[in-house]
Amino acid sequence: MCGIIGISSHKSVSNSIINSLKKLEYRGYDSAGIATLADGLINEVKSKGRVENLENNFDLKNLSGNIGIGHVRWATHGVPNSVNAHPHSSENVSVVHNGIIENSTILKKYLLGKGHKFKSQTDTEVIVHLITENLKSSELQEAITKTLKQLHGSFALGIIFKDIPDLIIGARRGSPLAVGYGPNENYLGSDSYALKSMTNKITYLEDGEFCFIKKDEVNFFNEEGIKINKKVLELSSDQQNYDKGDFKHFMAKEIEEQPQTLKTGIKEYLDSMNNDINIYNFPWKINEIKSIMLIGCGTAYHSCLMAKYWFEELTTLDVNIDIASEFRYRKNRFKNDTLYIFVSQSGETADTYAALDLCNKNNMKTCAVVNVIESSIARDSNFVLPIHCGPEIGVASTKAFLGQILVLYILSLKLSSLREEIKNKDYQEKIKDLKNLPGLIEETLSVDNDIQAIASTFNEAKGSMFLGRGFSFPIALEGALKLKELSYVHAEGYPAGEMKHGPLALIEEGMPVVVLAPRDNYYKKTISNMQEVVARGAKVLLITNKSKDEIVSENIWEKIEVETTNDDLLPFLLTIPLQKLAYYSALKKGYDIDKPRNLAKSVTVE
Ligand code: F6R
Repeated sequence: MCGIIGISSHKSVSNSIINSLKKLEYRGYDSAGIATLADGLINEVKSKGRVENLENNFDLKNLSGNIGIGHVRWATHGVPNSVNAHPHSSENVSVVHNGIIENSTILKKYLLGKGHKFKSQTDTEVIVHLITENLKSSELQEAITKTLKQLHGSFALGIIFKDIPDLIIGARRGSPLAVGYGPNENYLGSDSYALKSMTNKITYLEDGEFCFIKKDEVNFFNEEGIKINKKVLELSSDQQNYDKGDFKHFMAKEIEEQPQTLKTGIKEYLDSMNNDINIYNFPWKINEIKSIMLIGCGTAYHSCLMAKYWFEELTTLDVNIDIASEFRYRKNRFKNDTLYIFVSQSGETADTYAALDLCNKNNMKTCAVVNVIESSIARDSNFVLPIHCGPEIGVASTKAFLGQILVLYILSLKLSSLREEIKNKDYQEKIKDLKNLPGLIEETLSVDNDIQAIASTFNEAKGSMFLGRGFSFPIALEGALKLKELSYVHAEGYPAGEMKHGPLALIEEGMPVVVLAPRDNYYKKTISNMQEVVARGAKVLLITNKSKDEIVSENIWEKIEVETTNDDLLPFLLTIPLQKLAYYSALKKGYDIDKPRNLAKSVTVE
């Protein structure tokens, strides 16, 4: 999604801005641009498509200036082209913006009335002219405070001024924004990835705050324009994770990293000596929690659904789940004895953050399951359970999904033990199985050639279905999501038992259908559902786990067997072939696997 970078330095900044924009490419975007200030003039270059186009289409050596802002845009208002690309500039002011200005139509009408001329179809251009208008009657700081109050919606902003040679203003409401500190230069960035190559010293802006960044000093203000002090944080360095190494794509690398992801998570949360689970500093007493609400979007929502099955299996807690964009606008019945869990890889997803914010405002117990521990969702939750996956760069979530469900499984097991709802022998057994899980994932990853061959059938079909029951149902949804987002073919995840209630009408001769039927409690029922689709001509890819017992069904098109473990942990193993299926089908089509069309890694608009 959109990304911002700003640099105020003692030397020319255009190269560093381009390099930082490249770090933001993983977020998904459709145009890019830079503006620098040199000799009292704002110079701007913008292009549709990749940051590379800026380098190819313009001679950036001529874009001098020791201060500048850059942007990658994911279109919301107005098509992706060079006119709508950011920065947007008037003669005096240039702005980059992440987020959406909800009252832009009203503000535009007002500004047109004042004689301002608009070039683009974006909501952002309104901000440029509003600042320009407010500067006519107010000093800089007052004009900024006034402008920010006039804007409705969400924003992270970077602003430079023709007449102020060394200043970048940053402002945040809803969309994340960070300031970085370097030698004789300071930075503005929409996330720490963009700044990490330049500094590990960061300050995050909170909602309503803005800052004045000069090369040798940074000042922060609250929404009333009053100066405030803020902490400088030091980020950990995990630079090697930003390289693809020998892999063709980040996604391939991240799939293969999953045994390590699980090992790290297990090491963090398991006390191997005592065969127990450690969740340190849990801020509530166990009897204060009577129910659980899990909230997320996309893949993270599928993790929530997976967790619901485990919590219900292992505890007697009431468990509900919701999609963040629905939860935030519903008339919720907030309950003090509910633990609200927010699941998010990035920790910056706008809808998930808004749902968290709503719970915080109602004084609920909030817990974040996140990958990025410096993220807004992590910072604003009462308690954080990190998934310890390292940076996930591919837009399609893979290792973060396994990381999320690992942490949620560990939490459900721990709560079950603390609530004395699991026999100690079973608890110990499940912990032992968990320790063996990374090895089993590694084995399952070696099933590869079969999946490569199978992928073509999914590409050639009009659409496909992914079926599962019980613990396998969330994985069916996740498998279908991965296939549609990467190879742009229609794929539907469904509970296998629901087929007769409508979707069976879609089945026709040769339609590929993935059936997840591990040998768990649901096995026989799922196999019956599978026979119903086989009978109607579907090409069934059965994914099950290894077993001595024969499969009692004929006419299965293809079969993949994953390793065997206890029923709780089979979802981890079933996920692997589905990730690979999506990967290979996009690879065969030659699609941009790490940056699928129209999608963004960090969805910072609602
Ligand atoms: C799909 C995918 C998305 C994200 C969703 C939430 O592969 O990655 O569906 O899961 O946008 O993102 P986070 O987890 O960052 O909140």
